[in-house]
Amino acid sequence: MINICNTDNKNNLNEIKIALEQCKLGNDALIIKNALKIFTLKEWEVFFKNKVNLSNDSRQFNLQNLLEEETWWSIIYDKKRDFAYTHSKTRQPLHNDNAWFPDPAEMVFLALEKQAGSGGESTIYLVDRILHDLEKEEKELLNDLQNTEVTITKDASGKYFNKTTIIRGNMIFWNYYRTIKNDSVIKSMCDTFFKYLENKESTPSVEVHRCETYDMLCFNDTRLLHGRLAFNAKNKGDRIMHQSMWHINE
Ligand SMILES: [Fe+2]
Repeated sequence: MINICNTDNKNNLNEIKIALEQCKLGNDALIIKNALKIFTLKEWEVFFKNKVNLSNDSRQFNLQNLLEEETWWSIIYDKKRDFAYTHSKTRQPLHNDNAWFPDPAEMVFLALEKQAGSGGESTIYLVDRILHDLEKEEKELLNDLQNTEVTITKDASGKYFNKTTIIRGNMIFWNYYRTIKNDSVIKSMCDTFFKYLENKESTPSVEVHRCETYDMLCFNDTRLLHGRLAFNAKNKGDRIMHQSMWHINE
């Protein structure tokens, strides 16, 4: 489920720390309400390092699909960049953010500097729930997702890719558009799963929650899929989000 942390001052940081420790386990996503009123992005970095025992993973792919290093990556609505899902205002299907790395950062933080006037809700589908639903409804597909190896890559240089089954134990590695689908068996499995997830979005299995300006969505990327509903925006900057990725230290 999605937990909500309503702490709105620095006196209750322990409550946020406890909620983030839970979030690391991946059984729930977490929304820290008004996170950007409590701390700046720089201050959150210090908190993640010192209080939650995380290490930053600054690897991000830019619009040219080349690797860049940034602690926080800004996702600003801009109709000039509307061709990329990330920067568009259309619905973003369920996916993982780091599926293309064999050693992905587990924790993802999405801090909303500005939410759109309407829409832009986050969608969340937990792996435990996916496994439960597939077991009940699509056993064969589940078996394929657990046993068919695929290659997921975004890197234009070809250096970084993840060769994996889409579901591995209680983890998931899913990005439909970045999975190589040259093989007809793989293509069919990916198309079937894509459609399955799309249909699930309108059922209670997928949770939908709208973060407001200053809120921060936190989750373990290997333990759930996330997406976004369409939103209304006209001008550049009508929605501004900052994203950061962190490894869980053992
Ligand atoms: Fe994402």
